[in-house]
Amino acid sequence: MPESTPAPAHIGILTISDRASRGEYEDRGGPAIREYLADVLCSEWIGKPVIIGDEQSEIEAAIKRLTQDEGCCLIVTTGGTGPATRDVTPEATEAVCEKMMPGFGELMRKVSLEKVPTAILSRQTAGILGSSLIVNLPGQPKAIAECLDAVFPAIPYCIDLIGGPFLETNEQRIVAFRPKKKK
Ligand code: MTE
Repeated sequence: MPESTPAPAHIGILTISDRASRGEYEDRGGPAIREYLADVLCSEWIGKPVIIGDEQSEIEAAIKRLTQDEGCCLIVTTGGTGPATRDVTPEATEAVCEKMMPGFGELMRKVSLEKVPTAILSRQTAGILGSSLIVNLPGQPKAIAECLDAVFPAIPYCIDLIGGPFLETNEQRIVAFRPKKKK
């Protein structure tokens, strides 16, 4: 019998920006996330792009919908992580997640600080809701690859541990770390 092909992984690409959601500004963060994922993933995946304003209730609803209705194993957000009054992405992430994964934010800030001194202004974090990992990125499009390059090696194994699909990476680009199975 031929082996069945695994179903494509669903990945949420959530742009959080008042101006992009009103069409006053072109969304460059969402496409940068899609381009990054296309570059590093070699297993099948389907992107679920969403653009919303910096409204905590809307962000929480979008994360829940992408997880529960769209079956996303990974949701990458961009924007709303800074100190301004309207920046509430980390609050929304924390409000919906069952577990926080603070190491993601710590590592992304560490590598970002080597590029830009204002990296400390990002409160970006990550957490788990059901079988979905939610990772916040800053709104700057160039921050996307800078941050994801640091944490992506741990993402496929994290998704294994929460019962998600088996993500495979293009090893020329990112080597996914999975502990070796004991014999
Ligand atoms: N991290 C990286 N890697 N590159 C950047 O350009 N910009 C910083 C910071 N983190 C930046 C970064 C700046 S200027 C801000 S204000 C914060 O992210 C928050 O950005 P956000 O509110 O758009 O999420």
